[in-house]
Amino acid sequence: MLNLRATTRPEWITMVIEHLDEVVIDHAHCEKKAAGTAMNLIFAYVVQSEFVRQLSDIVVEELEHFRQVLDLIEARGWKFRGLAPSNYGRQLHALVRTHEPARAIDRCLIAALIEARSCERFALLRDQLPDRSLAEFYGSLFESEARHHATYVRMARLFGSEEEVFSRLEELSWAEAEIITRGDTLPRIHS
Ligand SMILES: [Fe+2]
Ligand SMILES: [Fe+2]
Repeated sequence: MLNLRATTRPEWITMVIEHLDEVVIDHAHCEKKAAGTAMNLIFAYVVQSEFVRQLSDIVVEELEHFRQVLDLIEARGWKFRGLAPSNYGRQLHALVRTHEPARAIDRCLIAALIEARSCERFALLRDQLPDRSLAEFYGSLFESEARHHATYVRMARLFGSEEEVFSRLEELSWAEAEIITRGDTLPRIHS
């Protein structure tokens, strides 16, 4: 259902446990970026009213997640700060085609894959974090990220045929699998 072609390397959860504060701070940045992605798409493709409505809901929900993670950081006595991002998003965004409507399809599908990967990782955090209150928090976010994945795939369909969208999703999901399997040395949600 999530269209992911690779599962997370087992070392990832070990890295998270060793750098918990840094990963949670990175997670706050991810939620902020997720709101920004949806907002940028609203600005770019204002003609489709269904699109604008669905993405507005995502903006609101991602900002709400952002606030929740900020509260959690504060409650634990950690400090929200700037962090270098992992190379995951940059490598994925480099795959976006430059001509329309292919560009719109790719932007939606890449957003869908990022949501799917977050969702997969939140499930791992829910199941494997020894810190059970944090694990429960990740469990509570899992469902909405899965829904965002499905919404973005549906939104891509506003710009292309079913066949075109699903064959491109297949290509991009293999590319995403390669990127996430190569990984990143930084402790991040998407490394
Ligand atoms: Fe979110
Ligand atoms: Fe999301």
